[in-house]
Amino acid sequence: MIDSVELIHLPKILDSRGNLSFIESENHVPFEIKRTYWIYDVPGGEIRGGHAFKEQEELIVVLSGSLDVVIFDGKSEVKYSLNRSYNGLYIPKGLWRHMENFATNTLALIVSNTVFNEQDYIRDKQKYIKIIDDDK
Ligand code: TYD
Repeated sequence: MIDSVELIHLPKILDSRGNLSFIESENHVPFEIKRTYWIYDVPGGEIRGGHAFKEQEELIVVLSGSLDVVIFDGKSEVKYSLNRSYNGLYIPKGLWRHMENFATNTLALIVSNTVFNEQDYIRDKQKYIKIIDDDK
């Protein structure tokens, strides 16, 4: 399952006036985009995320700065360091994730296939591990 996490190289239009990248729904992401949100002003040492989603898929693009995304599938863990505004990390549903090691002034944009729904979150890691084990 952790293998389905994918670093997606977004289009990059090189220009001496400044570069441009973009995301098209169902083209550069494998889902219809229903929501965009962004994370910013993260104090040094803070950790965001720390949950899994039942249905939500997302693409994380670090527009400025850098951070690490740690993905956990109930067994193994993998870390992606994001620091390029033309790369997006695609995370399918059902994976535990947290974000750490934010550089000062990091801005992360997230596009997802769902509108916000608290019921879609699994926020208890032990519960997540149990759900994964029960599904086997
Ligand atoms: P949460 O997803 O837990 O943040 P993170 O995973 O980045 O640590 O969301 C934090 C709070 O913001 C929580 O109370 C839910 C709320 N929220 C919304 O109302 N709408 C949204 O689109 C998101 C992502 C969060």
